[in-house]
Amino acid sequence: MAKINENYLKLQAGYLFPEIGRRVNEFQKANPGAEIIRMGIGDVTMPLVPSVINAFHEGVDEMSKPETFKGYGPEQGYEFLRNAIAENDYQSRGVDIGPEDIFVSDGSKCDTGNIQEIFSAESKIAITDPVYPVYADTTVMSGKTGNVASNGYFNGIIYLPCTEENHFVPDIPKERPDIIFLCYPNNPTGATATKQELKKWVDYALDNKSIILYDAAYEAYITEDHIPHSIYEIEGAQKVAIEFRSFSKKAGFTGTRCAFTVIPKEVMAFTHKGEPKPLHALWYRRHTTKFNGVSYPVQKAAAAIYTKQGKKEVQEVIDYYMENARIMCENLYEKGFKVFGGKNAPYVWTSPPKKIKSWDLFDKLLKEAHVVGTPGSGFGPSGEGYFRFSAFAPRKNVIEAMNRLKKLDL
Ligand code: MLT
Repeated sequence: MAKINENYLKLQAGYLFPEIGRRVNEFQKANPGAEIIRMGIGDVTMPLVPSVINAFHEGVDEMSKPETFKGYGPEQGYEFLRNAIAENDYQSRGVDIGPEDIFVSDGSKCDTGNIQEIFSAESKIAITDPVYPVYADTTVMSGKTGNVASNGYFNGIIYLPCTEENHFVPDIPKERPDIIFLCYPNNPTGATATKQELKKWVDYALDNKSIILYDAAYEAYITEDHIPHSIYEIEGAQKVAIEFRSFSKKAGFTGTRCAFTVIPKEVMAFTHKGEPKPLHALWYRRHTTKFNGVSYPVQKAAAAIYTKQGKKEVQEVIDYYMENARIMCENLYEKGFKVFGGKNAPYVWTSPPKKIKSWDLFDKLLKEAHVVGTPGSGFGPSGEGYFRFSAFAPRKNVIEAMNRLKKLDL
């Protein structure tokens, strides 16, 4: 008899964004004339920039000729892309990461979920609350938790509340985690962590033989100089941290798919007997066994963002989204919302003037203004009462959405 992985049954509802999509589609079906403005899922809306498109075309053309055709590429990613990443994202900031530390992949969502495979099923996982749902759901799927409790927390996960009081940067918990997921600039709160705040976590991981899984998918949106772009800007992090980066939000690759994970060779976790083992070797084994690399034209397109012209074009798009975020922050603040994020991240995290549950606000905005956001409680119990707006939208939609919101009784 084939048996299922019953851990999946512990998951409460569908994944957050399909659930939002379902409600929006239902509303649209019942109200075909409604012009819905979508600021829910953080999906980019601007096209790929010309440098990327040109490189993409070149890559496709190369595939059409026998002398330049490519079959399987290196699983870890082509060297030209890994070199460009190492030089531009790390060495230019004084961070000693080389191409050998980098694994090119088809997305950070997959990598942050799949990475759990190289750790013992007994590992204690710490996640922030609110959190990008992938970290929580994949922890449940991999059998590291019990059932969900009435407060919405899964037994066995160490939750790190991120609140207005701690500026959405978690405090060290009483219980010792083996693995700590951190994401800065943060999804969903848009908050950032300073070097001192990250140092506290790196020192903790060094002292406790823990590993930090650092999701930096939104680093390109940092506008303030003092905010670190990489966990490796913190001394000691190369021994205890894995970093995830993505071209999705940085360069509009949500539909094109390209990302990378950095595992320095010094990062160690331990066998049951306490012997240190490099995680790089384990991930290399996994990657080469289960993955055959990102397609050549896509990697070629990704590398184009590191050219002088590519950098300029990509920055213009980022600036466009960040101007959206500024407009949203200003208007929501004027309407009496509490407003967080939106300064170094494309997400604005808000709570409305009158207390209302997140999903009730979702329904109200959808029905009365035809505006879609993401209910904060979808990211965890501490998100209740909050709402996330994504700045990845055409400017005219942002302005129209803000005008519609102004008219609501909130
Ligand atoms: C989000 O809206 O939180 C993200 O777009 C989801 C993702 O990157 O997978």
